[in-house]
Amino acid sequence: MMSSLADASGCWFQVNGLLYSSCSVHILLGIRVNKDVIRHIVRRIFDMEYLKVENRQLKDVIRKDKLIYRSKAMQDIMRTVKKVAPVNTPILITGKSGSGKELIAEAIHNLGNSAGTENRKPLIKINCPAIPATLLESELFGYQKGAFTGATTDFKGKVRLADGGTLFLDEIGDLPLNIQPKLLRLLEQKCFEPLGSTTTVTINTRIICSTNQDLESMVEKGLFREDLFYRINAITINIPPLRNRREDILPLSEFFLSKYSEEMGKKITGFSEGVKRALMSYDWPGNVRELRNVIERAVVLSGGQGITLSDIPLLESQEECPEEQVGESKLKDLEKKLLTDALRKCNGNITAAAGEVGISRNTLRYRMKKYNLTRTS
Ligand SMILES: Nc1ncnc2c1ncn2[C@@H]1O[C@H](COP(=O)(O)OP(=O)(O)OP(=O)(O)O)[C@@H](O)[C@H]1O
Ligand SMILES: [Mg+2]
Repeated sequence: MMSSLADASGCWFQVNGLLYSSCSVHILLGIRVNKDVIRHIVRRIFDMEYLKVENRQLKDVIRKDKLIYRSKAMQDIMRTVKKVAPVNTPILITGKSGSGKELIAEAIHNLGNSAGTENRKPLIKINCPAIPATLLESELFGYQKGAFTGATTDFKGKVRLADGGTLFLDEIGDLPLNIQPKLLRLLEQKCFEPLGSTTTVTINTRIICSTNQDLESMVEKGLFREDLFYRINAITINIPPLRNRREDILPLSEFFLSKYSEEMGKKITGFSEGVKRALMSYDWPGNVRELRNVIERAVVLSGGQGITLSDIPLLESQEECPEEQVGESKLKDLEKKLLTDALRKCNGNITAAAGEVGISRNTLRYRMKKYNLTRTS
């Protein structure tokens, strides 16, 4: 890093612990240059040092979150992540299930928090649909002893735990309408009252929301408050589905392959060319999560050093026809078969079948309706 001071003999600059004077720069360059030029050169050195540190921080965050990408779309997203990380503006992350919304939220938090590890700021995550609507308000905003039957002690709530850090509201589209005004107030005035309390609590937290629903059409249908919608999406980051950023498929596959091979103590070197082609042409309705599950299963099943098509039944039939012929209808058939097999294997249990193929319950229900499938198809 650079610092500078001036005395009667001219300017002194310190770059990376080495002291330079304008005089020494003259000698180094072997020419006479004026102070402005020297200042410009040193400023450039300073800028380069700054960029190096910043790049190192970004790489650390990416490595920590194991965010893998190569596509232009994801490079643009990471550029935005870097810009928004240091400011407290609310962010809405949209994208299909399994596309990496939570990972991006973590990257924003970690990058905004990379100053030091001793004073890590909290990252509090709430999965809105996972908490019964009747409990969500108290879980979020806490309650005072005696607020309702069973409230035997004070409870702080998740929002207060996020003070000074980040509150990540996953699947915000599932936030019940009756709680939405309270969240709006938190966003606008940074305060709220716990249940049963008249004391106003003020907190400073960054709020990141995510959704795989179309909030705009929910607003039109009266299912989501318009004012809240505009407040949470001051900045929107949309993560495209994996099929729209195919350059990421192979780097992600290789990453998952080495991760699971290492975890399972297997020495698997790579994918056959057929597997690579099939990975690239499949549509990945469950996005990165589905890809991760497929590779994990392939590593479990693989008996040899490389992954072949027989280790990935989902892709096996796809490779049988030439790449150009893997059309929409073929993919639909494959998807239908995958869902039917999963439902059969899990005895019609939607949650288990969704987990099996690496998609959410809602996505599975939607796709069952689309293909006219029943639990016992
Ligand atoms: N770019 C990526 N690099 C590495 N792993 C990724 C990437 N994107 C997603 N994943 C992995 O895919 C899985 C799903 O990601 P994540 O939970 O962030 O998705 P999501 O969009 O929040 O899904 P949902 O809508 O179902 O909650 C996780 O295991 C995550 O680690
Ligand atoms: Mg998520």
